[in-house]
Amino acid sequence: MRLLALASLFVMTLHAIEPYGIPDPMVMEDGTPVREAAQWPACKAETMRLFEKFVHGKSPELPPWDQCRAETLLEKEAFGGKGLLREVVIHFPPAGTPPVYLLIAIPKAGQPVPSFVGLNFVGNHAASPDPSVRLSDVWIPSPNPGVVDNKATEAARGTDAASWPFELAVERGYAMATLFHGDLDPDRPDWQEGVHAAFFAPGQTQPGEGEWAAVGAWAWGLRIAASYLMAQPELDPKRVCLMGHSRNGKTALWAGAQDERFALVVSNQSGCGGAALSRAGRGEQLAHINTRFPHWFVPRFHAYNGKENELPLDQHQLLALIAPRPLLVCSAEEDLWADPQGEFESCVAAAPVYRLLGTDGFAATAMPPLNHLVNSQIGYHIRPGKHEVTAADWKVFFDFADARLPKTKSE
Ligand code: GCU
Repeated sequence: MRLLALASLFVMTLHAIEPYGIPDPMVMEDGTPVREAAQWPACKAETMRLFEKFVHGKSPELPPWDQCRAETLLEKEAFGGKGLLREVVIHFPPAGTPPVYLLIAIPKAGQPVPSFVGLNFVGNHAASPDPSVRLSDVWIPSPNPGVVDNKATEAARGTDAASWPFELAVERGYAMATLFHGDLDPDRPDWQEGVHAAFFAPGQTQPGEGEWAAVGAWAWGLRIAASYLMAQPELDPKRVCLMGHSRNGKTALWAGAQDERFALVVSNQSGCGGAALSRAGRGEQLAHINTRFPHWFVPRFHAYNGKENELPLDQHQLLALIAPRPLLVCSAEEDLWADPQGEFESCVAAAPVYRLLGTDGFAATAMPPLNHLVNSQIGYHIRPGKHEVTAADWKVFFDFADARLPKTKSE
């Protein structure tokens, strides 16, 4: 029986942790317990199918990189001579898919460097104040600074720069790349703009049962961006990391779960449908998210509004799909909507899979103090403050990556 409560184990060892009757991540659908690492791939495949069926839908195959085409739009020395700023446009099949634009800061290192890639909320021009970055021409939500009638204006430049401390990345020896999720799919219930329509059968106007929704499309774009990064001589293909904040954090987890090429994943305040346990019942609930953002997940997920206990999965299993790769879950004390406690509990509940696969799992048994990095293969950090991603957060991401990634390309 898959819905095994982990209660006894947790109550004995982890007083602060609630199991809520969450599914055991290491029991196969036929009830077989997973006791050895060799059994995990089959359990992982089942778990992946559950997330496809109940949450994200199935995405099309990723186009091979040799069928994609990248064109450099901008390349200049930047960051006081310490690095380069580059923007590329990536075209990919099938015909009719809109391209994505990737903005990248690359340190001058003389050897291939690790990188982070993450989606942004309002366009690359907002991530950097540099006037040579292309002004996005796709739909952007309003209100947002410098966005008029859902289009970016010059006044939007640099308005999201605090989330993308490129110079800090370069100083820390990391490339930092970002792309706008709206290039893949606008963040509204519309299936005509963005990548979905290129895959529709004649007459089809929205994704069919079991097909990808918006988060699935955004995750697919992150994977295409990763293909680009992995093909660049300045970047180490074995150390491409993912970072996502909030809805983009939900997306980073899904992309990282699907694509083992990502070496490390950071979820920043991803909350409901991200790192937080749905059954915890605090902060945002399924009925909230699915009503306000009906396009993010598949209709089958909506059927569990108010019935989280009946879901055949919970979000710790999404974290477990990233095992044994390093995973950092970050919360903010005031961001109760994202349920820091539920995010932490999810890490605890994913840890057995990480331990099964030979890592140190998760090194905390109760919520750590503020500003303390739990530095195990599943990492956790909670800081004071609100829902946002800042340079101080990035310092934690880099500290975790420094600790958990191989140091050099040859290792
Ligand atoms: C809303 C939404 C969250 C989401 C957040 C964001 O608050 O309810 O689920 O994470 O937006 O993406 O900023």
